[in-house]
Amino acid sequence: MPPALTVRPIGAADWPDILAIQVSAYGPALIETEAVLRSKASPLPAACFVATRGDRPLAYLLAHPYPPDAWPCLDTPLADPGPTDNLLLHDLAVHARARGQGAAASLMAALADAATRQAFCTLSLVAVQDAEPFWRRFGFTPIGPAPAEKGYDADACLMRKLLRGKAG
Ligand SMILES: CC(C)(COP(=O)(O)OP(=O)(O)OC[C@H]1O[C@@H](n2cnc3c(N)ncnc32)[C@H](O)[C@@H]1OP(=O)(O)O)[C@@H](O)C(=O)NCCC(=O)NCCS
Repeated sequence: MPPALTVRPIGAADWPDILAIQVSAYGPALIETEAVLRSKASPLPAACFVATRGDRPLAYLLAHPYPPDAWPCLDTPLADPGPTDNLLLHDLAVHARARGQGAAASLMAALADAATRQAFCTLSLVAVQDAEPFWRRFGFTPIGPAPAEKGYDADACLMRKLLRGKAG
C-alpha cells in the first residue's frame, strides 16, 4: 500500500520539490522564482503547507495576510502586508502526476483550520488556468477580473470567501 497522504508545514528542504511541482502545474507565464515563493511563505508560515506521501512533497499551498481589496503582483517579492483580517491564498498546486487523490482538499482543510485559529475573517485568491469552478466548490465567489497590471492573464478571476463576520 502507498504511504498515507500527510499535510505538514513547509520545511527548508522542501523548496526544490515545491519548484518542481510549480513547473508541472503552471504554464510559463505563471512561474515564479524561488525567492518570490519564499517571500510569500514568510509572513505566516503557519498558513503554508506541503502534502506528502512519504518524505517528498507532491503538492503545496502558500497563503499570507494581505488587505482584502488589494492584490500582489505575480513574480514580485512580497512587501510587508501590514495588519489585516484577510488571508490571501496565493498558490495551490498538485504535481501533475498526483492529481485526483485528495491532496488539494487536504491542503484546503489545513488552511481552513489555520485561518480559523488565527481569526481571519475572509480568504481571497486569484483564480488562474480556468480554476474558478474548482474554487467555487470550496465556497469562493467571483468578485471581478484580475487587474491587468498585476501580471495575470485576462481570464484570471478575483475570488473571495467569507469565514466569519467582522467584530463590531
Ligand atoms: C486545481 C488542483 C489544485 C486540484 O488538485 P486535485 O489533486 O485534482 O484536487 P483533489 O483531488 O483534492 O480534488 C478536490 C475536489 O475538487 C474537484 N476538482 C478538481 N479539479 C477541479 C476543477 N478544475 N474544477 C472543478 N472541480 C475540480 C475534485 O473532483 C474533488 O471533488 P470531490 O471532493 O467531490 O471528489 C490541481 O488540478 C492543480 O494543481 N492544478 C494546476 C495548478 C492550478 O491551476 N492551481 C489553481 C490556481 S488558482
